[in-house]
Amino acid sequence: MEELKEVIQDIPDSIILLDAESKIEEVNPATLELLGFKKEELVGKPFNLICRNFPQKEFAEKTLLRNCEAIYLKKNGEEIPVNLSISVKRDDTGNTKKIIYVARDIGEMKHIIEELTRAKDELETSYKELEESKDQLVRSEKLAFAGRMAASVAHEIRNPLNVVSMSIQRLQEELKKDDPRRKYLLAVNKNIDKLNYLITEFVNCARPPMLKMRPCDIHKVLNNVLTFIRDRCQKQKVKVIKNFTPKLPKIKIDEQHMRQAFLNIVLNALQAMPDRGELKIETRFEGDAVVIKFSDNGVGIPEEDIIRIFDPFFTTREKEGGMGLGLSVVYGIIGSHGGLIDIESKKGKGATFSVSLPIKKVKLGEIVGG
Ligand SMILES: Nc1ncnc2c1ncn2[C@@H]1O[C@H](COP(=O)(O)OP(=O)(O)O)[C@@H](O)[C@H]1O
Ligand SMILES: [Mg+2]
Repeated sequence: MEELKEVIQDIPDSIILLDAESKIEEVNPATLELLGFKKEELVGKPFNLICRNFPQKEFAEKTLLRNCEAIYLKKNGEEIPVNLSISVKRDDTGNTKKIIYVARDIGEMKHIIEELTRAKDELETSYKELEESKDQLVRSEKLAFAGRMAASVAHEIRNPLNVVSMSIQRLQEELKKDDPRRKYLLAVNKNIDKLNYLITEFVNCARPPMLKMRPCDIHKVLNNVLTFIRDRCQKQKVKVIKNFTPKLPKIKIDEQHMRQAFLNIVLNALQAMPDRGELKIETRFEGDAVVIKFSDNGVGIPEEDIIRIFDPFFTTREKEGGMGLGLSVVYGIIGSHGGLIDIESKKGKGATFSVSLPIKKVKLGEIVGG
């Protein structure tokens, strides 16, 4: 018995013995160290002096309870979360004789769990960010490669194309105005134009454009694009809804290129709604960026295509003459402005393209109306 007492003295967990009235009868040194009391300050005192969340009810009928959580109170008022095991000694009639509390400080463990949870959350966020930048990298790598290819291919094609073009012009001059063979030359010319367009767009999408940046009113650029497509909207019965935020700051952009990017997005939206639809354009001021959101309720983009729609030559509209360069151009232009494009779409559920452009060095007096 003496040996057991000695062992109890050395146990690092807090051990407290209570009498039948829940008064402290005995404590081991680990308890004194944990709570900062002297032994004589505890002996004879009620247990609730040092314990909150006292699991009284739970052990009313039991003789042993393990793994309860409770709060011990230090002499200086500090709280210590503890893991408790409680054992109750009863007499023959079932009345409580003694209660033994064995407690382990789990504050450190809780702290570690919190830290681990936070680290896990951080890891998940960085993983997501990494995935996103990987996608970006793959896309820009593809574009860089396409850029090098485009530059040399364009050169190789343009020269002979010029020769063809000039020869056709000569032939045209030779033929009389009403010569029926003119239609063949016309067909050749049309295709030369198409090839020239293809090469120019290919080079444009592959190589970031040279930008002429100056402060611009985004709403003016958007209105310009809307004027350009007004007739087509009417013909396709597409309703245009503008939701422009008033007092949007001017931002530094290359107006011409930006108009091209917006036009490409809007044209795609119109192509997705051949018969009736709604094209919504919203502008918003978000932190240090201007966000322009284009939403349509057209055919939408299947999930598996979303990752590919910015790839040069990706098109689902081959039959309609789509060349799959429109969004590559958009990507190049927005990217070279330091902007981002976000797409939300589902097959059959329309598409939303959100372009976010950073506001750089807005000077006072450059605020414009909506
Ligand atoms: N608003 C939209 N709704 C549905 N699909 C779209 C939309 N915008 C783009 N797409 C898809 O992205 C593809 C690539 O677009 P783009 O690069 O402009 O090439 P193109 O218009 O020549 O096909 C389109 O063929 C289409 O499948
Ligand atoms: Mg297009």
